[in-house]
Amino acid sequence: MRNKTFAIIKPDAVKNKYTGKIYDRILDAGFEILAAKKVHMTLEQAEGFYSVHTGKPFFAELTEFMSSGPCMVLALKKENAVDAWRETIGATNPSDATDGTIRKDYATSLGQNAVHGSDSHENAILEIGFFFSQAELIQTQ
Ligand code: CMP
Repeated sequence: MRNKTFAIIKPDAVKNKYTGKIYDRILDAGFEILAAKKVHMTLEQAEGFYSVHTGKPFFAELTEFMSSGPCMVLALKKENAVDAWRETIGATNPSDATDGTIRKDYATSLGQNAVHGSDSHENAILEIGFFFSQAELIQTQ
């Protein structure tokens, strides 16, 4: 079943006190929260999580930012979750994000874009597994 995705409320959004507003967007969009926790990644953890971007020109900026403060990591459930979450958050660059999306409302730049969403079902499973054990994923139905 392709009904799970992984989300991060990034350090900029947590620092700006948008966590509650973004939780409301998650629930209003019909996602079930299977697991959630606050983490402050080390630089090494951020480099591991974003290892697919190793060597790209923005890698150092990205990993330094993601380890600069606490963020919320979440495992979300909904039918067609990866696409549904990407629709809810909007384009990676907030200047391209459409009205009503999380990034349109809460992101400030391409680097500090408020939230992360998995780009495929396979990566969603890997990313959920990076932060959560099986026992932490609460299945309610
Ligand atoms: P995210 O969805 O977390 O996945 C990778 C992140 O890299 C992306 O959001 C952006 O925040 C960031 N990113 C992508 N392209 C660039 C870029 N050109 N410069 C800086 N950051 C980028």
